[in-house]
Amino acid sequence: MFEEKIAHLYDFLLFPFIHPIRKKLLSIADNYKYLKILDVCCGTGNQLKYLKSKGFDAIGIDLSDKMMSVAAKGAVPVKCFKENAEEMSFEPESFDMTTTTFALHEKTTESALAVLHEMLRVTKKGGHLILIDFNIDQSVPSLSRKACTFIESLAGGEHYENYKNYCNTGGIDSLINQINVKEIERHESDFEAVTIRILEKL
Ligand SMILES: C[S@@+](CC[C@H](N)C(=O)[O-])C[C@H]1O[C@@H](n2cnc3c(N)ncnc32)[C@H](O)[C@@H]1O
Repeated sequence: MFEEKIAHLYDFLLFPFIHPIRKKLLSIADNYKYLKILDVCCGTGNQLKYLKSKGFDAIGIDLSDKMMSVAAKGAVPVKCFKENAEEMSFEPESFDMTTTTFALHEKTTESALAVLHEMLRVTKKGGHLILIDFNIDQSVPSLSRKACTFIESLAGGEHYENYKNYCNTGGIDSLINQINVKEIERHESDFEAVTIRILEKL
C-alpha cells in the first residue's frame, strides 16, 4: 500500500494540508461532546492524537503494522487495533461517533460500502458517522482538482484506479446515498478539495 511506504514521514509530509482538517474534526467532537469515538482506517493515529490530547475517549483500527507502529510512538501514544474495517469485532452500537478520513476514495465501491455498513453497525442509533474525503463537486477549483489527481496518481496501481472510480461514480455523495443515514452538516476544507460530512444513523 502506498501510504505504508512513507508511514514514518506521513504525518510530517501531510501536516500543512491535514492540520486544518484534524482541528475541524476536533471542534466537531467538542461541539457534539461524543463520549466514545472510533477512527476507522486510522493509519498513523494522527487524528486520534488530536482527540486524545483534548481528553476524548477515542480508539482506532487499521490493518497496516507500519502505519500503526507510528500510532504507538510520540508524546501522545494512542490505541490502535489491527482489524479489518470491513469486518470489525466490536459489538453493535458501541460508539457515539465513528469516523474515517481518506480511506474511502482508495477502495472499490463494494469495499467502501462494506466499511460504511460496518461503521453503521457499531455506531449507536442517533449517533454520528463523520466521513472525510475528496470533494468531487464542480465547485472545486480546477487547480485543486488537478493537485488531488496528481497526488493520487503518485500512489498508482489499484489505489489510483479506485480513486478514478470514486470520482467517476459520484464520490462521497453516491456512497452516502446507499446507506441509511441523514446528513446533518457538511463542511468543505480549504480550497474546497476535501469534504467533511456529519451523518446521523437512523
Ligand atoms: C490514506 S490512509 C489514511 C489514514 C488516516 N485515516 C489519516 O487520516 O491519516 C488509509 C489507511 O487505511 C488503512 N486501510 C485500508 N483498508 C483497510 C481495511 N480494510 N481495514 C483497516 N484499515 C484499512 C490503510 O492501512 C491506511 O493506513
